[in-house]
Amino acid sequence: MPSFNKNIDSVGVGFASFFTAPPEDVIRFTVGQPDFSTPALIRNAAIKSLENGETFYTRQPGSESLCSAVAKYLNEEFNINAEMERILIAPGCKQTILYALMGLGNPGDEVMLLSPSWATYDAQIKLLGMNPVHVPVKRENYHPDFDKMEEAISEKTSMILINSPNNPTGAVYTPEEIKKIIDFAERNDLWILSDEIYATMTWVDWPHVSPASLPGGFERTIVIGGWSKSWAMTGWRLGFLTGPENAMKALFKCHANAATHVPTFLMPAAEVALSCKKEVAEMTDAFRERRQRIIENLKGIKGLRVPNPEGAFYVLMDITGTGMDDMTFAKRALDEARVHLIPGSLMEKGDGLVRISYATSIENIDEGCSRLKKWLNEL
Ligand SMILES: Cc1ncc(COP(=O)(O)O)c(C=O)c1O
Repeated sequence: MPSFNKNIDSVGVGFASFFTAPPEDVIRFTVGQPDFSTPALIRNAAIKSLENGETFYTRQPGSESLCSAVAKYLNEEFNINAEMERILIAPGCKQTILYALMGLGNPGDEVMLLSPSWATYDAQIKLLGMNPVHVPVKRENYHPDFDKMEEAISEKTSMILINSPNNPTGAVYTPEEIKKIIDFAERNDLWILSDEIYATMTWVDWPHVSPASLPGGFERTIVIGGWSKSWAMTGWRLGFLTGPENAMKALFKCHANAATHVPTFLMPAAEVALSCKKEVAEMTDAFRERRQRIIENLKGIKGLRVPNPEGAFYVLMDITGTGMDDMTFAKRALDEARVHLIPGSLMEKGDGLVRISYATSIENIDEGCSRLKKWLNEL
């Protein structure tokens, strides 16, 4: 019998089982995707491109025009020194992370994660024969615990993968913390993989800051982003990546051999998206309002502790005060309150936590929270 990748059994499929639609009467707080349609201008650009016959192989990292637009966007919005020649467009942010790990890491390397973290990181690292090192974030606010990071570093650590604004915690790291992460990476000679897919969604009075925009950060940071969240384009599978020239050379090779390029006719649409400021602002405002609503609704519910959700569209509740473990909580919430939630222990260091995605209507937010409240009060 031919064998398998020896790490395959230690790899899960993220939250996949929680993404199948629950029965109709259930309020679904599980899916991490905007519930808005992709704006019409973007859709129409793809249709036009198809009708123009733009269906052939093209420049592998992405059209010059799209890569220039991404470089301009990153410079203007996030002060990141990006140039057309160092931009790579890939099938989803998920795949860009794989390229970064594949192109910069070696089997046996340790990759530091600040956890609980998005489950895909753990799986990708293992599939490549590397080892994830999950350093718990501070339980009270989900921000980095620098003492624990110092304790976890080893000779084998070659990268730290950060994600701010964060899924699943909702934390937005402060500019000071980002500086400290750069300092930590410099002292230990690490690459910083910075997943910034939720960069436009911050709800606090400090901005999203990319390590690539700060002194010492640029040379060692791979900036990862994509269209899924800010432009409501999850199904389009479009992500981007930039970094210093030496790293990008390696990552271009991964992409050239894995995907060639993203669909040619999606490139003009991705470019149009970058100019859709009004549409993005409208969706962002809706998320801001929903976040406010969910904070109010969850206030004072028996047994729940809800650290301030600072960014993205997630609330990570500490449910230990209910006396249940998170798996039991999620199962009973579904059976008894008809609310669908993600149990934190699907992620390392997520025990006792339960994630809500508030990428859903205000009506659903009101109804789902009121069901949770009633259920917990009556226990
Ligand atoms: C932190 C994080 N990174 C990346 C992704 C994946 O993005 P994409 O749809 O572009 O692959 C997600 C999706 O949920 C995410 O939460």
